[in-house]
Amino acid sequence: MKHIICLLVFLATLNSTAQETELLKNWKFTNYDYGNAQGTDFNDDNWESVTIPHDWAVQEDFNFTHDIQLTMVIQDGETKPKYRTGRTGALPYVGIGWYRTNYTVSEKDLEEKVQLLFDGAMSNAKVYVNGKYAGERPFGYISFHFDITKLLNPGNNVIAVRLENFSSQSRWYPGAGLYRKVSVIKTNKTHVKTWGTFVSTPQITKKSAQVHLDLEILGEGNCTVINEIFNSEGVLVTKKSTEVNINGELKISEDFTVKKPKLWNLKTPHLYQLKTSILKEGKEINTYSTTFGIRNIRFELDGFYLNDEKVRFKGVNMHHDFGPVGAAFHKELFLRQMMKMKEMGVNAIRFSHNPPAPEALDICDELGILAIDEAFDEWQIGKVLNGYSKHFDLWAEQDLTDMILRDRNHPSIIMWSIGNEIMEQYKHDPNNITEYLHKIVKSIDTTRATTAGFNSANNALKSGMAAIVDVAGFNYKPGIYHKIREIYPNLKFYGSETGGSLSTRNSYKFPVTFDPAQSKRGTSLNTELYEDGQPGNYENTNVPWGYAPYKEFASQDYNNFVYGEFVWTGYDYLGEPSPYHTAKSRSSYFAPVDMVGLEKDKFYLYQSEWNEDADVLHFFPHWTLPAMEGKEIPVVCYTTYEKAELFVNGKSYGIKTKIKPVIPEFLAENIEKEASGGTSMAQMKAYSIVWENVIYESGEAKIVAYNKKNKKVGEVSKITAGTPYAIKIEPELNAIKSGEVGVYVISIVDENGNLCPTFNENMDIEVSGAAQFLASGNGDPTNVQNLSKPQRKLFNGQAVIFVQSTKKGAINMKTISGDLKATDNSIIVN
Ligand code: GAL
Repeated sequence: MKHIICLLVFLATLNSTAQETELLKNWKFTNYDYGNAQGTDFNDDNWESVTIPHDWAVQEDFNFTHDIQLTMVIQDGETKPKYRTGRTGALPYVGIGWYRTNYTVSEKDLEEKVQLLFDGAMSNAKVYVNGKYAGERPFGYISFHFDITKLLNPGNNVIAVRLENFSSQSRWYPGAGLYRKVSVIKTNKTHVKTWGTFVSTPQITKKSAQVHLDLEILGEGNCTVINEIFNSEGVLVTKKSTEVNINGELKISEDFTVKKPKLWNLKTPHLYQLKTSILKEGKEINTYSTTFGIRNIRFELDGFYLNDEKVRFKGVNMHHDFGPVGAAFHKELFLRQMMKMKEMGVNAIRFSHNPPAPEALDICDELGILAIDEAFDEWQIGKVLNGYSKHFDLWAEQDLTDMILRDRNHPSIIMWSIGNEIMEQYKHDPNNITEYLHKIVKSIDTTRATTAGFNSANNALKSGMAAIVDVAGFNYKPGIYHKIREIYPNLKFYGSETGGSLSTRNSYKFPVTFDPAQSKRGTSLNTELYEDGQPGNYENTNVPWGYAPYKEFASQDYNNFVYGEFVWTGYDYLGEPSPYHTAKSRSSYFAPVDMVGLEKDKFYLYQSEWNEDADVLHFFPHWTLPAMEGKEIPVVCYTTYEKAELFVNGKSYGIKTKIKPVIPEFLAENIEKEASGGTSMAQMKAYSIVWENVIYESGEAKIVAYNKKNKKVGEVSKITAGTPYAIKIEPELNAIKSGEVGVYVISIVDENGNLCPTFNENMDIEVSGAAQFLASGNGDPTNVQNLSKPQRKLFNGQAVIFVQSTKKGAINMKTISGDLKATDNSIIVN
């Protein structure tokens, strides 16, 4: 982890254009609708002082009246709209937000160029400089920049941004405000255009790689352009110098040879750096840095290839929020998420359903994770009343173009997604938008594939939409992969969304029943809704369009030409508590990791299937189930080992193995059927070891693992917890940098250190020293305590606390729950 952080710092230094400065401190903010607050003489003294990134809604109280939406989920077979709550997180993101800051420039700066760059502003941004309109951008997820030179005066300048979020503008929590970085880019009048470099690597052999550069320069005059390529140790590997005459805009292309290239791949993601310098009369007037990787990607009928090796996507979808911290982007929190995903075995991310913060892609580059950049969740036909469909006609071309221009040098990006579950599928895309967007992508980048996530496979295939994109994504369709290949033999595809089973960490519901007929397409919701909003972990409840992970594994094993899958989702996220629209829940239930970053049981299922380097031995349920004393329960073990034996208080329940295969029962006869039933015990037994009828007795449950030769290779046990005895505080990292977020995992344990998995009492949090309290959460979608106040109920024994470091030194953490108290000062800010 430390090594990765150092590398990221190195890259961040290289990445910034020489003249790019972040504009993050000393902003003023108000939620009050002033009408006009852009003027230089406007008095903002009584506005709140904030730093960017900032999310104005996440600190507020939850309230289910914030986001009542009248919607119809067609995917669920609904024909009439229904009222839903919590879809956007039950937080007050709707409304107007004003931000103002001061920025000083010199006379000399004004002879050159000054641009303002936003990495995303949620949403409908209108930007003013000294009261004058600089530009606007409705789409909250897109990066955009304006040339503001002409609006600036020498000395102090006022930058003001007006944002406006509408009700029913999103299907999940969008966040609110300047939630990503804002920067100023000062350059000479003659300079490399922002996002004006495109590096590709068309020819690669062991001996050498051809590196192709397309470069755009703005300005005037005779110049020398020097391009230098450095390896990841900072050593110059090749260089070229070219004399040019620039008259307004100049495009040049150059080719380089890198000898003995170190490839970007999943295990050793080597990166290179291109430094472009422009010289006039021998003097350097502009530099621009571009990080890239040398790698080859191919999209074949039998699979996706990276550097000529077939790679199956072990992917997850990711929304952009950080749970209790909200949408404000923190690089270290995205890194935390990705480290957990890597531990699970993830090699690919689909950024659902909008472009991420640019630093997220830097991290994918650095960690060796493949990425899909996705542009839209709506085209012309909306899903929610005030969604992107309102902007599509005016802005889609520009937004898609900017996404690609900004991100096209990331080696992690392998596909550009032009849309998710687009409603045009149902009308067979009458305006041929699929083709229109596909062509825009191709006009900028022919080195990667276009894609889209289709949920109506039948319509997408029949209308030809699925065949227009280079590689089709299908959402929740493992039952028909074989049929698609049979009927459309030239179609390349993958599971763009898979899974859809529901759970909350450490919850178990008995009796455990499986209904393979559950979730048949077109039937109304028949998933059992538990009164307490806590579905268990036996993978037997799912949304009607979803299914347990086992089914996707089985289908992908059977149809090994499918490129792989992207689970919905890697982490639980704010909003979309489907199917718990019961005015009780405010966050999602789908992921293997809960909203605060703690593993649910299915994390270990994916890990056992995906992480080739991990020895996995995990079982459930926990062993503190007083209501089940003397009753039968199933015990399920996720493992990479051959065989396992369960003991309850020393009594053996026998040695068992996984039982494969389970193919026939989930194959649908035709594409129209699309889905083919829910989870069965047979599916579960193919990917886990199950003891179906175990008599629960408090005490100890132990699993011993054996290899093929019956040699004991592992052991794991769970012990019935005694009375809560202590609060355990575990910092995730012991050293962080000033300004970074620190994370603590809190667990309630008994006298012997066993987790008390039914403890749900409140805890007070006090933070002092080198940090202040930022947020906390517990992974319970029904918990509606304010996320930014220092009280949190433990959920099934655990919670997570986030602190914001403010200065160098030790962070003092204190937690109190009833008679239990604990302190920790082991995180040092340096
Ligand atoms: C899909 C959709 C996702 C999310 C998911 C929940 O239909 O693309 O955004 O809503 O369902 O299962």
